[in-house]
Amino acid sequence: MEDIYFEIFESLPRQGPGDERSTKKAYQMLTELFEFPEILDVGCGTGAQTLVLAELSSGNITALDNHAPFIEILKRKARQARLEKRIHCVVGDMAAMNFHAESYDVIWSEGAAYCMGFANALRSWKALLKPRGYLVVSELVWFKRETPQEIRDYFTGAYPDMKYYEDIYPVVKSTGYEMIDYFPLPSKSWWTDYYAPAEKKLAEMRRECQSNKDAQSIFDSFQLEIDMHRKYSEYYGYGFYIMRKIAKPET
Ligand SMILES: C[S@@+](CC[C@H](N)C(=O)[O-])C[C@H]1O[C@@H](n2cnc3c(N)ncnc32)[C@H](O)[C@@H]1O
Repeated sequence: MEDIYFEIFESLPRQGPGDERSTKKAYQMLTELFEFPEILDVGCGTGAQTLVLAELSSGNITALDNHAPFIEILKRKARQARLEKRIHCVVGDMAAMNFHAESYDVIWSEGAAYCMGFANALRSWKALLKPRGYLVVSELVWFKRETPQEIRDYFTGAYPDMKYYEDIYPVVKSTGYEMIDYFPLPSKSWWTDYYAPAEKKLAEMRRECQSNKDAQSIFDSFQLEIDMHRKYSEYYGYGFYIMRKIAKPET
């Protein structure tokens, strides 16, 4: 069944909500970067944001994901864009990255830190950042404290750790970073490169796999996620958190 799941995701321009403009907006908030920063893109997927980062900066980007076929797609795109010399692709686990300590000016992660838990990710990745290095993470959050029961129940199952967007700030502080800025991802970033092509792909695959009940249940659960967003997008979304490593965590 994993194959079906990955067949959907490998076909999409992005593997999660996001857009080029928001990547650029967040990058422009890193006001004290050198000309050739070393950047680590964690959970890069097929690299939608990796290519944007490579165009925005003159530095090197290490792009890491644990799904090898995503990395193969990124390698192809990097070659096509003639950026392969500056984009180093790595298949690996974000929870066990054995890069040199304090070797990155920026760690970037769009929609992927949740895979190991937001606070865990912040703690674990800090050792790889240079002193005063930047950490930029987009994370699924509640935009309102009061939410309808149906969507609250849905995320109790899908992402029980999901926080109100301002409740992330103390986590940032307690894990040893300062908050530089925050902005919510616009609603259309969920659709253009993610849910719209996903719905098209789901419809195609439903026709191809009509007799496969397990596959149909994967399609149903993805469709439910999309329907929930269509109905309740004002209550939750992605927040972009721009942070900076501080010398000592405050507890
Ligand atoms: C929601 S997708 C986001 C992908 C990409 N950043 C984007 O915005 O299009 C999360 C990514 O994290 C990757 N991932 C999940 N668990 C991982 C792990 N333990 N180590 C490395 N990558 C992981 C998935 O393969 C997937 O590509």
